[in-house]
Amino acid sequence: MIIAESVAEVRAQVKAWKREGLRVGLVPTMGYLHEGHASLVEKARSLCDRTVVSVFVNPAQFGPGEDLESYPRDFAHDCALLEEKGCDMVFHPDASVMYPPDFATYVELCSDMPRQLCGKTRPIHFRGVCTVVTKLFNIVTPDMAFFGRKDAQQLAIIRRMARDLSMDVEIVGCPIVREADGLARSSRNAYLDARERAAALVLSRAVAVGKELAAQGERDARALVAAMRAVIEAEALARIDYVDAVDGVTMQPVDAIQDGVLVAMAVYIGKTRLLDNFIVGEGAC
Ligand code: PAF
Repeated sequence: MIIAESVAEVRAQVKAWKREGLRVGLVPTMGYLHEGHASLVEKARSLCDRTVVSVFVNPAQFGPGEDLESYPRDFAHDCALLEEKGCDMVFHPDASVMYPPDFATYVELCSDMPRQLCGKTRPIHFRGVCTVVTKLFNIVTPDMAFFGRKDAQQLAIIRRMARDLSMDVEIVGCPIVREADGLARSSRNAYLDARERAAALVLSRAVAVGKELAAQGERDARALVAAMRAVIEAEALARIDYVDAVDGVTMQPVDAIQDGVLVAMAVYIGKTRLLDNFIVGEGAC
């Protein structure tokens, strides 16, 4: 497995692969990899000839007071996992490579899509995500790029960005990977102490309740969301950031529950903000 820290190294290797007619897949990550990331690498390997994984904690997507400094990092562990999963190249740039001191160009969706859901409390987050993902696409020039559906709004925004900017890359969304007890895998789960880890199950319990109600025919988005909120509010360590039902493509709030609606939440367990969601009418999400 190649470990590249410079843009030139990545470009030279990808060009060599493309000269051989090989299809290249990219899995963008911020590291501290877990089974969720591993599933993205497996998907990339099943659809592409070569897999590149970027490991970069992107400062541009963290707002003031967020967890940029404390975000968990373990590059040695990441490399061991990626080697085992058959990744071909890891791109691990320094922040100065991605953002030189006079960096001034950002990519931003100019609709209210990035202002819904997570954007309500993280106003600059998706601008940072779109900017770094654009840079990664320009550096790696992947044929396909793989993103988890736990970050459903991120996936929808990247799809829109790729379409709007005619990016020559296929965006592939991959199912949420859960722990045995239902907690969605996330690098931020590492922040949870034992009590919080137990309390965090309230997210997947709320998802189960929402899915069940939708399957039983509940069509009123407010009633479905209220039932999910009641589950979360019963947990003393949980504080709701949002629970919303939105159109799965546009992220616009909906009144009616129907197939394709995204029911998404962000919930603080202690100081840790966790995400979970489901898409109405889809089995595994
Ligand atoms: O989902 C993430 O880990 C990040 O938002 C991403 C897509 C790697 C961009 O930094």
